[in-house]
Amino acid sequence: MIEAARLAPEQLAAISLADFAGDVREGLTKRGQKELYSKYLYDEIGSMLFEAICLLPEYGLSRAGARLLEQNSEEIISLIPGPVMVAELGSGTGRKTRWMLEALARKQNVNYYPIDISRSALDRCDSDLGRLESVSIVGFERAYLDGLLEAAARRRPGMRLLVLFLGSTIGNFDRPAGDQFLRSVRQILQRDDALLLAADLQNDEDRLLLAYDDPAGVTSAFNLNLLARVNRELGADFDLARFNHLVRYDRRERRVEMHLQSSADQIVRIPRVSLDVRFAKGETIWTESCHKYSSGELVQMSRRTGYRCEAQWVDSEWPFAQSLWIAV
Ligand code: AVJ
Repeated sequence: MIEAARLAPEQLAAISLADFAGDVREGLTKRGQKELYSKYLYDEIGSMLFEAICLLPEYGLSRAGARLLEQNSEEIISLIPGPVMVAELGSGTGRKTRWMLEALARKQNVNYYPIDISRSALDRCDSDLGRLESVSIVGFERAYLDGLLEAAARRRPGMRLLVLFLGSTIGNFDRPAGDQFLRSVRQILQRDDALLLAADLQNDEDRLLLAYDDPAGVTSAFNLNLLARVNRELGADFDLARFNHLVRYDRRERRVEMHLQSSADQIVRIPRVSLDVRFAKGETIWTESCHKYSSGELVQMSRRTGYRCEAQWVDSEWPFAQSLWIAV
């Protein structure tokens, strides 16, 4: 601890500028499809824009997820024999987590460990949930698996670990990588620990496209902010007026893809990684995938990755599932 306190803040941060620079260079020099990783969408501005997305009438995901917890948190908690400690992958905002913590806090004192690569997300989580009765919070500014290891290390004998993965962020992984991630989580867990997994389900295609390409342009701003971030942090000269937000649904992969499409032949300079990137008119940078599942597919995923699906709740207004998985 004293060791850590002497480190400069940027050495402690989960994402350093060097990581960002390396990933931007790698993604934009790929042959074929250029790419920027979706985790970089969430700087301070991107996180605020994402919160605005969650308020859009077209984007039903987050409200569905919250509704399911509001309605079912008591039942979910009753399915996990206590005492339980809670870790959350991606602290997000406290809105949906509050239902779970309150339900648990009616039975026991709660240790809650939110894990997020963003300091500002953890700060917001603390101000949303910090005043809950009988709940103590220790946040970890870490990548998911690193943070989960630290949280698990604080387990006291006889305690179960409940891992919340509520953002439906699993959808950002392609299917094989998603399985791999869930297996890695399982390796940190003990038998009978629990994972509450939120996932967006298959939906009408037009409805999905509208959810990711809203008429007010909030999602477009969220996507374009990634280029603005590369400008801010790496000194690049992306002209945002010459890139367009592009959304498509891939039926074979069952996912929405978000891209930024160049509207002209152009060269972008990124001095801090000594890179000139050439774009052809119409070429895209792939910035995010949002995979959509069926409820049966989620049950199969649990079996493949070391869990059994104990129960599942599906929202009646927007096809979205919360699944309670128990480590076997
Ligand atoms: C935060 C990953 C769940 O995939 O729907 C929202 C992010 N991107 N609009 C999603 C997002 C564009 C979101 N997740």
